[in-house]
Amino acid sequence: MCGIIGYVGEQNATPILIDGLARLEYRGYDSAGIAVLDSQGAIVVHKRAGKLRNLSNAISSSQPHGVQGIGHTRWATHGEPNDINAHPHVDCTGDLALIHNGIIENYQELRKELMAEGHVFTSQTDTEILAHAIERELAQGAENLETAVRNILPKLRGAYAMVVMSRKEPGKLIGARNNAPLIIGAGNGESYFASDMTALLKHTRSMLTLNDGEYAVITAADIRIHTIDGKQVQRTPIHVEWDAQSAEKDGYPHYLLKEIMEQPAAAQRALLSRIKPLDDRLVPQIDEIDALAQSGKLKNISRIIMLACGTSYYASLIGRAMLERWARIPVEPWVASEFRYADPVVGPDTLVIAITQSGETADTIASVRLAKESGAVVVGLTNMVGSALTREVDVTLYLNAGPEISVPATKTFVTSVMTLTVLALKLAELRDTLDAFAITSLLRQVETIPAKMEKLLEIVGVENNTIQQTAKWLAPCQSAMFIGRGSGYAVAREGALKLKEVSYIHAEGYQAGELKHGPITLLDEFTPLLAVATHSIVYEKVISNIQEVRARRAKVIAVATEGDELIHKHAESVFYVPEIDELLVPALAAIPFQLLAYYTAVERGCDIDQPRNLAKSVTVE
Ligand code: F6R
Repeated sequence: MCGIIGYVGEQNATPILIDGLARLEYRGYDSAGIAVLDSQGAIVVHKRAGKLRNLSNAISSSQPHGVQGIGHTRWATHGEPNDINAHPHVDCTGDLALIHNGIIENYQELRKELMAEGHVFTSQTDTEILAHAIERELAQGAENLETAVRNILPKLRGAYAMVVMSRKEPGKLIGARNNAPLIIGAGNGESYFASDMTALLKHTRSMLTLNDGEYAVITAADIRIHTIDGKQVQRTPIHVEWDAQSAEKDGYPHYLLKEIMEQPAAAQRALLSRIKPLDDRLVPQIDEIDALAQSGKLKNISRIIMLACGTSYYASLIGRAMLERWARIPVEPWVASEFRYADPVVGPDTLVIAITQSGETADTIASVRLAKESGAVVVGLTNMVGSALTREVDVTLYLNAGPEISVPATKTFVTSVMTLTVLALKLAELRDTLDAFAITSLLRQVETIPAKMEKLLEIVGVENNTIQQTAKWLAPCQSAMFIGRGSGYAVAREGALKLKEVSYIHAEGYQAGELKHGPITLLDEFTPLLAVATHSIVYEKVISNIQEVRARRAKVIAVATEGDELIHKHAESVFYVPEIDELLVPALAAIPFQLLAYYTAVERGCDIDQPRNLAKSVTVE
């Protein structure tokens, strides 16, 4: 949470910082601020509560000029979102400016210490202690900013990605990280820090990761990385494949709509080179899993634990059904924030599959660490090259979704499901639980998913009135109930999450059979039911559940299988998905709900790409 950016080079820093913040705003939008070292050698700070546009408007007539600066967009944790608590923060002298993402857990004791020594605090943030602690080190004789930063790092508990600059040491930025993302961009005669690569794509595609417990000193010409104890680290830059254009809106009114429409291509990329023809068969090809198997690490595996949060957790519920059905192995999906405090039973017999599109979700990373310490083998799924997850796991499977800028996850959801699909078939092959014929026949169907998504989007997508009309009557509702059975239940949970997070309508996702055990009391003519009623072994059961609520006058929106004409008898509004194996339906069935959430939010005038109180990367616990 929070987006941070730093620039040092020869260009005017302000427009670079503001543009970078615009791309990072999805990480938090409670306030925004910049600090620029101007040509007179003064640090000029501008910050404003609210969205970045408040800051941009405030500086439009007098932008600070200078060739280095730092910028921050905040998701508030300590201290309300106002101008004063906005970053950057400065020390007592005004010589230092600092931005931070994360939480310093021992900030109160450090603040007390510093106040007792005479430091004057202006904000309620945990961040401000960092500026004063560095100031103290310098006052006590640290030879330079780098030494001062290095000295304070061991005293901090909690998570941080920070960038600091001093007007006394121009031409230099220092960044440090622990459990919060920070990457370095290597440009031509300029260097950058940023919370993630999308902020820098316009300037460079050569990036270096910074690991936990490391700090970096960057100048226009040089990048040096060190461990906390001062040892220099050699790191080779990664070339990022994403281009700047892929992180633009491309004529769509919102990133969310663009990303929904990009799902066929994203699904195709997630499958690319993971399905291989072999003679007249198709085989799942995941080299990373083959390598694990060859190393003997999968030999003693008798169970799987899946770890994730939010939408990624719902993808794991879909993964569970495939893994259990095809690879015949018991699977327990866990919400990561529960797992880590549950004293879980996990050991060398456990394969952990952790999913986090950002690769930075604090609870997921902490749970992965716990599982590893207990001897589990961990496979990580993420969209972010070089993210924290990739450093914790035995192998990483990239989602290859491309940049996902909108806060609500869509294409990372379908690419997680696609990746899990091939993984489940790979494990079925290794465990010999499905024969080659069955695997081939499923993979042939999997291969058709991108094209089926394309067709589905053409039918229910942008130009389709039905979904927009349905959104019109959904928009005034205060509450909605989503139901499904089996994998349809996971789609219902994800549909409810999308609707509530984008349109702020209260929504719940329930197992269809559970309605009559309580929640049916909530249904009436003002509370619609959204049902996953695609063909499956439980289709008729779902229809019975729909009838139960229609008897209570609730209106029904159904996602059904193409060709199912009878469903019209049971629902006011129907969205069809193409026929496919029932375990493969979820990636398709989720799409009408995504579009419905989108158009309902449009009707309600919500802030679609940046829903209130949310952030794309949840680096706090
Ligand atoms: C919902 C959404 C969140 C994330 C959750 C986990 O649209 O985006 O629920 O799925 O915060 O994020 P990652 O996958 O980055 O761990």
